[in-house]
Amino acid sequence: MAPLLAPADLEPGQVVVDYGCGPGGLALELARCTGPSGHVHGVDLNADFVGMARQALADAGFAAFTTVHHATDDRIPLDDAQADRLVCKNVMEYVPDVAATLAEFRRVVRPGGIVHIIDSDWGMLVVEPLGATRLRELMDAASLAFRTPHIGRILYSEMKRAGFSDVSVAIRAGADTEGRMLPVLQHVAQFAEVSGKFEQKRVDAILTEVRQSIAEGACLMTLPQFMVTGRA
Ligand SMILES: C[S@@+](CC[C@H](N)C(=O)[O-])C[C@H]1O[C@@H](n2cnc3c(N)ncnc32)[C@H](O)[C@@H]1O
Repeated sequence: MAPLLAPADLEPGQVVVDYGCGPGGLALELARCTGPSGHVHGVDLNADFVGMARQALADAGFAAFTTVHHATDDRIPLDDAQADRLVCKNVMEYVPDVAATLAEFRRVVRPGGIVHIIDSDWGMLVVEPLGATRLRELMDAASLAFRTPHIGRILYSEMKRAGFSDVSVAIRAGADTEGRMLPVLQHVAQFAEVSGKFEQKRVDAILTEVRQSIAEGACLMTLPQFMVTGRA
């Protein structure tokens, strides 16, 4: 996690927002960075994840300097300029209005504070043995899984347009030859089926082919992560 978070320049004592905190894995890491002299605010739309994140932070002994907010819309329940940092990982692909969400990030982070966004770009997914054409067909059919499946490539310009300064972008990609990303592919494939564009047997055949390739040690998967960082 450390290389993904390095551009956020996290330090003890900071107030940090984890937007779209999910079950709390990243919030735990952020709380370790801020320590009890700082504060981590998790925010999520999903009530189950909010409960899980609260529990994970409490179990780690971090309850006193963390708060997990259940957001009911895209507004962050914090005052203007309340945070030193805002970190957002694998969430922007789902928000209904990217520009409005970035404006909200600018509102809650103090001037000079840092917004650090980590997200993928599903148009850059590689799953061999599927080849480019079949994978593109699958991803097109699964596009209802995301609001903005190609968020990675547009985040840099969107951050600039939103008025952030010192905007930088870095891209990290790992090579998965062991099938660690199979659950991600299975999740996406479910959406291809739900869309009605792919029959179940076609999805099953694709997943069987990928599993076989993993078993043979021939599979390669990668999904680059875009890290875009700017100052409010
Ligand atoms: C793929 S998960 C990522 C969770 C976490 N950030 C991580 O990297 O492990 C996406 C999360 O974003 C949340 N989410 C989606 N849209 C949101 C929104 N508009 N506001 C807040 N949270 C949102 C979902 O409920 C989910 O917990």
